Amino acid sequence: MKIIRPKTLEDNLKESIKAIRSQTKLKPKIAIILGSGLGEFAETISSSAVIDTQSIPHYPHSSVEGHKGRLIFGKIGKVALLAFQGRVHFYETGNIETILYPIRVAHALGIKTLIVTNAAGGINKQFTPGDLMLITDHINLTFQNPLGNKSVSLHNQPLYDLDFQNKIIDIARTADIHLQSGIYCGLKGPSYETASEVRMIGKLGADAVGMSTVNEVSLAFSLGMRVAGFSCITNLSTGILDQKLSHQEVTEVANRVRHTFSRLITGVVEELG
Ligand code: HPA
Repeated sequence: MKIIRPKTLEDNLKESIKAIRSQTKLKPKIAIILGSGLGEFAETISSSAVIDTQSIPHYPHSSVEGHKGRLIFGKIGKVALLAFQGRVHFYETGNIETILYPIRVAHALGIKTLIVTNAAGGINKQFTPGDLMLITDHINLTFQNPLGNKSVSLHNQPLYDLDFQNKIIDIARTADIHLQSGIYCGLKGPSYETASEVRMIGKLGADAVGMSTVNEVSLAFSLGMRVAGFSCITNLSTGILDQKLSHQEVTEVANRVRHTFSRLITGVVEELG
């Protein structure tokens, strides 16, 4: 009797990679996860293949209507890259594997550099909506473990590559782009934080708060990838200013700075590639 073994994550990943490879032979050096507000950057890529995630077996989909998932293979200048557009958030599925899958795909394609971007609320009182923040470290308050039962020390080296950070600060200075830096705190969401939660997160040492990034970065680091991360500060968090937070504000600010954000990321890709 033939015993049918259940498919493993590795089996699924192999099938996903096969489907991707049937559509492009490009070998990207950098993967970039595009958060809200980086749509413009996607337009600057001279793309050689745009793959709808629906056509990739086992690839997770966003439940949010209109959030199309696409893998864009292409080049910025001479640098081959893969941009993930339309991120799936943990709160959409409740399954951590769905948010880790893009990282596994990037790693399986041999990519060694990861750039993550997101929209975040500012906790640091020096920040203003529209600021861009280089992520120097993170606090994971999603209460998820992205590494399964693997025991990997995340403490002996910075998760966010220091050499990259120094280069990025230089790039921003040369391009005359105002760049804040700070610690990003990742929560599960999807509701925004209460004023008391924001106070607590500030006391824990965070400068910005959002609903993504931390688990993906820990996994990428554990797989040996070098990571750089950016937050677009779309609003100040609840209670930091005496005014109501609206999703509309988040979208408007992301739109206002998308050109600068795109310019910064283009410079970073050219330097790190
Ligand atoms: N909190 C959490 N996530 C966010 C925020 C915020 O204030 N702004 C944009 N994403």
